[in-house]
Amino acid sequence: MSNLPLLEARTSFSENVDSDVIAVFQDSAKKAITPKGPYGGLVDRLRKVEAFAAKHGTVQFIRFGGKAPADNVLLLGLGQGTELSEEKIRAAGGHAWAKLSVEKVKSLVIHVDSLSEVKGAHSSLTPLRCIRALAEGLILSSYQFTKYQAKSQSEGKSDGKPNDRLAILSSSSEDSLPLRIVFLTQDKGLKAQLDAQLAQVQAMGEAVWVTRDWSNQPSNYGTPVYFANEAKRLAKENGLKYKVLTELDAIREKMGLFIGVGQGAERESRFVIVEYTPKNSKNSKNLSKNLKTIALVGKGVTFDSGGISIKPSARMEDMKHDMTGAATVMGAMMLASKWEVQNRVIGIMAFTENMPDGDAIQPGNVLVSRNGKTVEIINTDAEGRLILADALDYAQDYKPDAVIDIATLTGAVSVALGKQCCAVLGNEESLIEALRRAGESNGEKIWQLPLFDEYFEDLKSDYADMKNSANDSNGGTIRGAIFLKQFIRKNTPWAHLDIAAMAYNVSHLSYFPKKGASGAYVRTLAQFIADF
Ligand code: BES
Ligand code: MN
Ligand code: ZN
Repeated sequence: MSNLPLLEARTSFSENVDSDVIAVFQDSAKKAITPKGPYGGLVDRLRKVEAFAAKHGTVQFIRFGGKAPADNVLLLGLGQGTELSEEKIRAAGGHAWAKLSVEKVKSLVIHVDSLSEVKGAHSSLTPLRCIRALAEGLILSSYQFTKYQAKSQSEGKSDGKPNDRLAILSSSSEDSLPLRIVFLTQDKGLKAQLDAQLAQVQAMGEAVWVTRDWSNQPSNYGTPVYFANEAKRLAKENGLKYKVLTELDAIREKMGLFIGVGQGAERESRFVIVEYTPKNSKNSKNLSKNLKTIALVGKGVTFDSGGISIKPSARMEDMKHDMTGAATVMGAMMLASKWEVQNRVIGIMAFTENMPDGDAIQPGNVLVSRNGKTVEIINTDAEGRLILADALDYAQDYKPDAVIDIATLTGAVSVALGKQCCAVLGNEESLIEALRRAGESNGEKIWQLPLFDEYFEDLKSDYADMKNSANDSNGGTIRGAIFLKQFIRKNTPWAHLDIAAMAYNVSHLSYFPKKGASGAYVRTLAQFIADF
């Protein structure tokens, strides 16, 4: 819940700022190249004493004590231009941010003309794309979740009651000024293009912030009703249609699996639908003709205790993040709307809590899904696939051209793929390829796992149409997906993203928080929607 930095482009700037930022390339002898702009002489001197070689990922921070145009300068090493990619620049942005925040810098001027002579490894790497990537790296790095820590608590008065404390905490950080990042160029044409790009990056920050805040929210505050209300507020702010199903509504919808999972919880479940339609789609015939519908479906388990098949206590606290799929859907919906993408998007978020209780579902129970299939519960901890099954069925009533579900579905995905990518499984190669490509251009990796129908053998039940889990731990991620596939109608293109390993504690990307929610795949999904 930290402040989002404000990005702006300028052709001149004379106010005092905390720090200048200059990007510095390396020549083929791996020496720093003298950059354009005000700090050429400084870089020359540092090169002579071998203090700064502009190696990619390195930074040099120098304090002037208020004598130079800025109080300080950060030299940002980008390595050799020929080796550069957007992702490498994003990463460099992350390294820059780490240093700037240690030094408590609140305002920066980035002299972007120092980037203008880049010739990257990819022909698409224009100066504009470089600057955008740097802006992304900086803004994505600046997130902190400090809502429940002493610093922000002391800003408000509290009588110590939990609810009052929450009210105070959630408004406490609004007083302090946001950080300011100015992109300075002499080129008026570039400035105009930058305005548009920076607005898109700013929107990215806002959307990813929401996903991270939701995911990090402890489950005593982040209940299904809380998220349904937050979704309503954000839908209104972003011009999205909003609809919510209460448990009673879900019972009328015959969502036996969704209802079953929430049965052991004291807190009520909520099933939320938000919808984006491009504004000009009604006026322009051309657009409405090509208007496609994409449905996004997110797992929103606000806390996954495992239910009666209760989880071991080690790291059970991480299960507050089990609603990250739904949080990712909300972020992607917001971003699609802010970017004014030219497709219709339905966002479905199934919020519930998986708790053990006298009324909870039990192993051996048989539940009936919305589409009439029966499911024998073997393990109440395989709950994500249950709620998604009903949500996917509901999503298909909109006759979408593609359905993507996104979920922290299996621990097995990190056994299979580690923490560097998420898994994709589905029924249409071109859809999977499009997702993979959207991920690639955002530094968010996606790897396909197989989904042969033979895997369904493992889920054959003696008492129902299928069971929700098998008796051994082989192919856990694939089994989750093959279960979901039973609820996909003929001719619906569908893909499933298992983000269990990527939702939180992702430490290999410099621009993601090391601990807590990553916000991964919000940008990928919005990009996928824009390009579909
Ligand atoms: N929410 C978990 C998956 C998970 C595990 C996410 C670890 C993040 C980190 C999911 O509901 C679950 O419990 N899955 C089981 C399935 C099994 C019982 C078939 C699992 O992965 O063990
Ligand atoms: Mn579970
Ligand atoms: Zn779960």
